Amino acid sequence: MTQTLHRAGGSQHVLRLPSTGMPVDLLGRRLTDLRISVTDRCNFRCVYCMPREIFGRDYAFLPRDELLTFEEIERVVRAGMRLGVHKVRLTGGEPLLRKGIEELVGMLAALRTPSGDPLDIALTTNGSALAVKAEALKAAGLNRVTVSVDSLDDETFRRMNDVGFPLERVLHGLDAAHEAGLGPIKINMVVKRGQNDDDVLAMAEHFRGTGYVLRFIEFMDVGTTNGWKLDEVVPSREIVERIAAVHPIEPVAPTAPGETAARWRYLDGEGEIGVISSVTQPFCSSCNRARLSTEGQLYTCLFADHGTDLRALLRGGADDDSLTDAIAGVWSARDDRYSELRSSATPDIRSRRKKIEMSYIGG
Ligand code: GTP
Ligand code: 5AD
Ligand code: SF4
Ligand code: SF4
Repeated sequence: MTQTLHRAGGSQHVLRLPSTGMPVDLLGRRLTDLRISVTDRCNFRCVYCMPREIFGRDYAFLPRDELLTFEEIERVVRAGMRLGVHKVRLTGGEPLLRKGIEELVGMLAALRTPSGDPLDIALTTNGSALAVKAEALKAAGLNRVTVSVDSLDDETFRRMNDVGFPLERVLHGLDAAHEAGLGPIKINMVVKRGQNDDDVLAMAEHFRGTGYVLRFIEFMDVGTTNGWKLDEVVPSREIVERIAAVHPIEPVAPTAPGETAARWRYLDGEGEIGVISSVTQPFCSSCNRARLSTEGQLYTCLFADHGTDLRALLRGGADDDSLTDAIAGVWSARDDRYSELRSSATPDIRSRRKKIEMSYIGG
């Protein structure tokens, strides 16, 4: 079944799945997951994300009136839910820096999918404010958190966040999230050769048997400012081998289609780890994620160089149907598979494009 819709700039065909009426993109992928950046600010300056030479004192962050309001975010989520979205992840920048974030969580928790289910609401945070915020977030309806921890060595941790933030406060935040019931908690470790790759085994051993799921992430060439070099990427295969040499592991089947992490289980029953291999084993073929930037641009890929201005629609008086149609139109025209192309491209395709920064588009 195809439906034509009219937008500024002409008409567009929206390809829908006959069984569900939900749109599919040009590679047959459905939209199920919306990642929302609620602020472009962060109190960390992680070397792989917001290097301080670029994001220094003079860096111009977005002024408040450029940000989508909570009501505007809620409207986009509601429209997305009509098209199949059932998972929402709040990101940033650091999402806990957005004033009143619990209020947004509460608004999203009240929504129901067309089949009457609540959203799965997750949040990715650097953990620095979790000790203060965990309980309120849980009370508002947040389901779970993912916390970035790049090392268990305080000196390395401080060097990687580049603001000297102590590890201990993040570990406290993790405890608070656990006590508040914001699980299953996932831990993200971006592995950068020469910076923290020596900590891989210590991280695995620390989180084994805790119920936290540690995921190792290959350093990615998101944005254009993080000085990405292929030789600083530690391939997931190497990480798996290093851990398996000490603690035998076996692969586990994915729990849901489109998962970013390949899962591995400790044979002795002490839990599991994940590896996110965007560079060496791209997972574009099942990518069901759209991204909403802080100022309301809709992006269909983490590595996009342009988006669609939903804020203009929202502030121009578009009703819910036109908003939904606009998102469906964007999704139907989508053919992104940056990581797969990057892997096969020679010479490097990065240099030809100006990509959006991670802190703006959301991790
Ligand atoms: P859940 O399945 O909801 O637990 O989330 P997730 O596995 O997507 O985890 P999370 O949101 O923490 O993502 C982990 C990391 O994977 C992110 O911080 C990114 O570094 C990377 N990532 C997430 N989505 C994408 C994607 O669409 N493309 C690429 N290349 N990397 C991604
Ligand atoms: N490569 C891989 N992951 C990154 N993140 C941020 N920048 C990068 C990058 N260049 C991820 C981190 C963090 C999340 C917000 O985004 O995992 O946990
Ligand atoms: Fe901030 Fe997260 Fe980026 Fe680090 S990775 S600078 S904590 S947004
Ligand atoms: Fe999806 Fe783009 Fe990431 Fe591929 S590179 S998995 S298309 S966000």
